[in-house]
Amino acid sequence: MGKFIWLCPIRSLLFVLFFLSVVDSFLSLSSSSLNPTPLCLPEDTSALLQFNNTLFIDESAHDLCAYPKTKSWNESTNCCTWEGVTCNKVTGQVISLDLSCSMLTGSLSPNTSLFRLQGLKRLDLSFNNFSGSIPSGFSQLVSLTYLNFSGCSFSGSVPLDISLLSKLISLDLSTNDLKFDRQSFDMLTRNFSKLENLVLDLVNMSDVVPTSFMNLPSSLKQLGIKFCNLKGKFPTEIFQFRYLEYVDLSLNSLTGYLPSSNWSSHLKYIDLNDNQFRGSIPASIGNLTKITFLDLSNNEFQGQLPSALFSLKQLTDLVLSNNSLEGLLPTHVRGFQDLKFCV
Ligand SMILES: *[C@@H]1O[C@H](CO)[C@@H](O)[C@H](O)[C@H]1NC(C)=O
Ligand SMILES: *[C@@H]1O[C@H](CO)[C@@H](O)[C@H](O)[C@H]1NC(C)=O
Ligand SMILES: *[C@@H]1O[C@H](CO)[C@@H](O)[C@H](O)[C@H]1NC(C)=O
Ligand SMILES: *[C@@H]1O[C@H](CO)[C@@H](O)[C@H](O)[C@H]1NC(C)=O
Ligand SMILES: *[C@@H]1O[C@H](CO)[C@@H](O)[C@H](O)[C@H]1NC(C)=O
Ligand SMILES: *[C@@H]1O[C@H](CO)[C@@H](O)[C@H](O)[C@H]1NC(C)=O
Ligand SMILES: *[C@@H]1O[C@H](CO)[C@@H](O)[C@H](O)[C@H]1NC(C)=O
Ligand SMILES: *[C@@H]1O[C@H](CO)[C@@H](O)[C@H](O)[C@H]1NC(C)=O
Ligand SMILES: *[C@@H]1O[C@H](CO)[C@@H](O)[C@H](O)[C@H]1NC(C)=O
Ligand SMILES: *[C@@H]1O[C@H](CO)[C@@H](O)[C@H](O)[C@H]1NC(C)=O
Repeated sequence: MGKFIWLCPIRSLLFVLFFLSVVDSFLSLSSSSLNPTPLCLPEDTSALLQFNNTLFIDESAHDLCAYPKTKSWNESTNCCTWEGVTCNKVTGQVISLDLSCSMLTGSLSPNTSLFRLQGLKRLDLSFNNFSGSIPSGFSQLVSLTYLNFSGCSFSGSVPLDISLLSKLISLDLSTNDLKFDRQSFDMLTRNFSKLENLVLDLVNMSDVVPTSFMNLPSSLKQLGIKFCNLKGKFPTEIFQFRYLEYVDLSLNSLTGYLPSSNWSSHLKYIDLNDNQFRGSIPASIGNLTKITFLDLSNNEFQGQLPSALFSLKQLTDLVLSNNSLEGLLPTHVRGFQDLKFCV
């Protein structure tokens, strides 16, 4: 009787272990047969090879990050294994091309074979040396969600058709010799309904009317428009965009005010250095519990410094110089060990 009682659980335990090991080997079998590197599509391989043939590696490129990814590309191997190339695991379609900082030089022709990579979701060509303009045609890449042309040495106008990439979540055109005209930018703000990161530092936006920033979607997290020749009133509402974390408006000629309430509670970084923002620093600044960097220097702020400013525990950089602010700085500010403080 006692034996029987003990045997049963042991037998069922053995059965369970057997069952688990079958399931396990089945799973590892199927995952190893589903998860090998997918095979690159012939049309994608040919598009990548043609693209590669239009570019050169500049051995004198001296960026710290410089590493020539395309050098190892080999025609007789699966392009899904090439450095910088990522394929869809099931279909084998190329979905991401990351050639950031790869010492590339050359130019993108108006019919660049990049446009044939129909499955492309991410394209990162940042920190290379392309001469000439950004060709029109990127709107053919209808699935693109991430586009990074930062520091690519492009010149000329941003083509209107970039503004048709309505699925973009992230666009970085910073540090080129580019110009964004009013119509293209207006269209971008209306079409990009999923945008989270917009970085246009050093792009000439002298024709853009700053009120158009208000049409950006409320999904916006990062807005970088440093040194863009922007003039005029910047909409206060942007600081209230629900998800906003990072805003750099420095080195423009923008006027405007800080909001007196309802700031985005996610704000970590605000740089308004060298503009003509006016009015007071509202007490509600004390609501920015996540803020680490705040530079309001070289503006026209006036009035008393709110004491709430000195209760911001995460703040490490605070710059207020060259305004018309008054008030006593606390001689002893608690929780500010690392603060670089500059009035
Ligand atoms: C390309 O790959 C083939 C097959 O793996 C190999 O035999 C050949 O040496 C490679 N070529 C270069 C230039 O690395
Ligand atoms: C890609 O281009 C680089 C030079 O830009 C070259 O070294 C490499 O062999 C090329 N690879 C293929 C497969 O064409
Ligand atoms: C692009 O057009 C030029 C002539 O306009 C042609 O020589 C070249 O082969 C074309 N390139 C591609 C990738 O179709
Ligand atoms: C970029 O390439 C051009 C030639 O196409 C060259 O004159 C220039 O010095 C390069 N710039 C950098 C920063 O390497
Ligand atoms: C674009 O690429 C640069 C360099 O790789 C990177 O620092 C930057 O954060 C990227 N921009 C965005 C918006 O992801
Ligand atoms: C983009 O905006 C333009 C004008 O505002 C409009 O004609 C076009 O249909 C929009 N395209 C998309 C994909 O939203
Ligand atoms: C920006 O564009 C405007 C209008 O085309 C031009 O007058 C101005 O010189 C440009 N600014 C810079 C810094 O290139
Ligand atoms: C606060 O901002 C949100 C959008 O970020 C908006 O929906 C809401 O109406 C604003 N509330 C006030 C009181 O302004
Ligand atoms: C923000 O700060 C103001 C003034 O200090 C305060 O009245 C308000 O309750 C705070 N909270 C929000 C969500 O605005
Ligand atoms: C103070 O800021 C203004 C911009 O608002 C700038 O034009 C001026 O040069 C700055 N003064 C000093 C001394 O830095």
